[in-house]
Amino acid sequence: MRILITGHTGFKGSWLTILLKELGHDVSGFALAPEPESLFNSTGVSKMLSRELYADIRDKSKLSGFIAEVSPNVVFHLAAQPLVRYSYLEPTETFSVNVDGTLNLLDSCEACETVEAVVVITTDKVYRNEEKQKAFVESDPLGGTDPYSTSKAMADLLTQSWSRSVSKKKIMIARAGNVIGGGDFSRDRLIPDLYRSLVAKSPAQIRNPLAVRPWQHVLDCLNGYIHLIDKALGGLPSDSWNFGPESEDYRTVKDVTDQFFTAFPGSTFSPLDGDGLHEANFLALSSEKAFSKLGWRNKLTFQESVDWTSDWYRNFSSNEDIAEFTKEQVKEFLGK
Ligand SMILES: NC(=O)c1ccc[n+]([C@@H]2O[C@H](COP(=O)([O-])OP(=O)(O)OC[C@H]3O[C@@H](n4cnc5c(N)ncnc54)[C@H](O)[C@@H]3O)[C@@H](O)[C@H]2O)c1
Repeated sequence: MRILITGHTGFKGSWLTILLKELGHDVSGFALAPEPESLFNSTGVSKMLSRELYADIRDKSKLSGFIAEVSPNVVFHLAAQPLVRYSYLEPTETFSVNVDGTLNLLDSCEACETVEAVVVITTDKVYRNEEKQKAFVESDPLGGTDPYSTSKAMADLLTQSWSRSVSKKKIMIARAGNVIGGGDFSRDRLIPDLYRSLVAKSPAQIRNPLAVRPWQHVLDCLNGYIHLIDKALGGLPSDSWNFGPESEDYRTVKDVTDQFFTAFPGSTFSPLDGDGLHEANFLALSSEKAFSKLGWRNKLTFQESVDWTSDWYRNFSSNEDIAEFTKEQVKEFLGK
């Protein structure tokens, strides 16, 4: 298949490119230029692409021109301002990239005859969270408190409206939670914060150690998106889908930290006092629909997911051939 990924220079987009190339697809990408320290640069993702353009998704003419040039069958829309805490600092940018960017993407795909199916990536944070300690199902109401969650809920509703009232293409919405894996260097995310504490040889400062999230390895989440596309092209109607672990793998921030640090003896953490910015305490997703209708579920257990992640950072920091190591993880995953 000819596939376009928006946000291909990011953490998930880089893994998705490597995974799709391993599966034999033709992949192109549209995103901002990569960060200097990134999975994209350290594994040479650029060389795997048929075409790529570094531009802002809010630039509609560049986006639609590029989509027309690539003429993809399938589009994965990942480009976004994806950070909750940054969204408090830059709410206008967050709403504009996440909402206008999604509208530009949907409209540009509509104008491109070759596009058969689009997957719009939102998040578990789209659900209105009243901290009732329940796992969200796809029909639960959407809403948000911080600008990131709200902008993603808006992008999600926009996509639902588009697919019900404007488009005849297959448009799927994929909602997953916090994903972990090697090569994430983002600000204010748990695994990158743990890795940076190891580099700095100082205790990690952890916000909300008892917060619960539906952690999963990035490859499991991306495998869900690929299942979705396969089923969409096979006739499954447009719909929204949760992708998360089974309930025994809803774990706390502290559980992830303890497991990650088993690979780095001597490392420690201390809880950080709150700074007043709201972050949910309990987030969990029910993925029963994906389990039963897509035949998808996580291949990696919680412990394997964290261990694959710590292995990646250990190899990265000891200057192993990280491109080769990353490809090996993808092959091992596909072989499971
Ligand atoms: N990482 C997670 O745990 C997680 C969880 C739930 C949902 N998501 C969603 O998955 C997607 C990818 O997240 P990620 O973790 O890879 O983030 P990332 O920050 O690593 O990557 C974001 C990508 O979007 C691109 N981008 C940002 N602003 C852009 C703009 N104005 N124009 C064009 N491209 C732009 C960046 O260049 C990059 O390629 C996002 O939609 C995010 O909301 C991520």
